[in-house]
Amino acid sequence: MIIKNAVILITGGSSGIGKSTAKLLVGLGAKVAITGLDKQKLAAVAKEIGAIAIPANVQNDEEIQNTYKTVLKEFGRLDVLINNAGIGKHAPIESLHRNDFENIFQTNVIGMAMMSKRAAEIFKEQNGGSIINIGSTSGLKGYQTGGAYSASKFAVRGLTQCLQAELRPHNIRVMLVNPSEVPTAFGSEERKERPNQEKKITSMEIAHAIVSTLSMDNRGMIPELSVWATNPW
Ligand SMILES: NC(=O)c1ccc[n+]([C@@H]2O[C@H](COP(=O)([O-])OP(=O)(O)OC[C@H]3O[C@@H](n4cnc5c(N)ncnc54)[C@H](OP(=O)(O)O)[C@@H]3O)[C@@H](O)[C@H]2O)c1
Repeated sequence: MIIKNAVILITGGSSGIGKSTAKLLVGLGAKVAITGLDKQKLAAVAKEIGAIAIPANVQNDEEIQNTYKTVLKEFGRLDVLINNAGIGKHAPIESLHRNDFENIFQTNVIGMAMMSKRAAEIFKEQNGGSIINIGSTSGLKGYQTGGAYSASKFAVRGLTQCLQAELRPHNIRVMLVNPSEVPTAFGSEERKERPNQEKKITSMEIAHAIVSTLSMDNRGMIPELSVWATNPW
């Protein structure tokens, strides 16, 4: 697809991977809308990078409907949904509570599913579109303390494969991008961005991976792409 003038909606675009992706896409001439929870931070980031801000929680169906209404009102169409909003908590199973599982799955899995549901309707009407789901290398292999987060990203991978099977006949590409560790605000309760680390990948590497998967002509799609640091140790 041609990125210039494409209309792209990114959930969780006010920080980390979503923010870098929004910035890169705006720089390439796309029309970008970003969502997030913290309204002030979202508005400041949108202003800084030249996107439009839509405060919305992917756990809330009304706010999801409002997100799409705003995008369609502002731009008249939608070409790409990037399901990036995500949260995590890492702890041994004895320290994970029902509420942790519910919250993580509500955002990472059910939020992604409900965002994709409305995008699928729009894309079917338009006879095409692209969905990028942000998974994780945590969704490829389980590990200690990953009971809630890693399990949610396994579910994201399963959801992505189901949507791929359902939506391909409608010219809709559904692609999974799995970052390995990126220093961001992810997992910090105070929501403070961590600085880049020399050997770890940065959110801009993931942004480039996302742009690469989108840039291919619509006749082709990359079902899944994992991004590792070459030598993080
Ligand atoms: N960082 C990593 O090491 C890593 C590795 C693999 C995969 N990932 C995945 O990459 C994605 C982005 O992570 P990141 O590292 O960029 O995290 P981040 O810096 O913490 O950013 C997360 C973004 O999602 C938003 N968000 C959180 N809950 C939301 C909700 N319920 N509704 C709407 N927006 C919500 C946040 O908004 P507020 O700031 O306002 O809360 C923020 O804009 C996630 O899916 C994560 O699982 C991250």
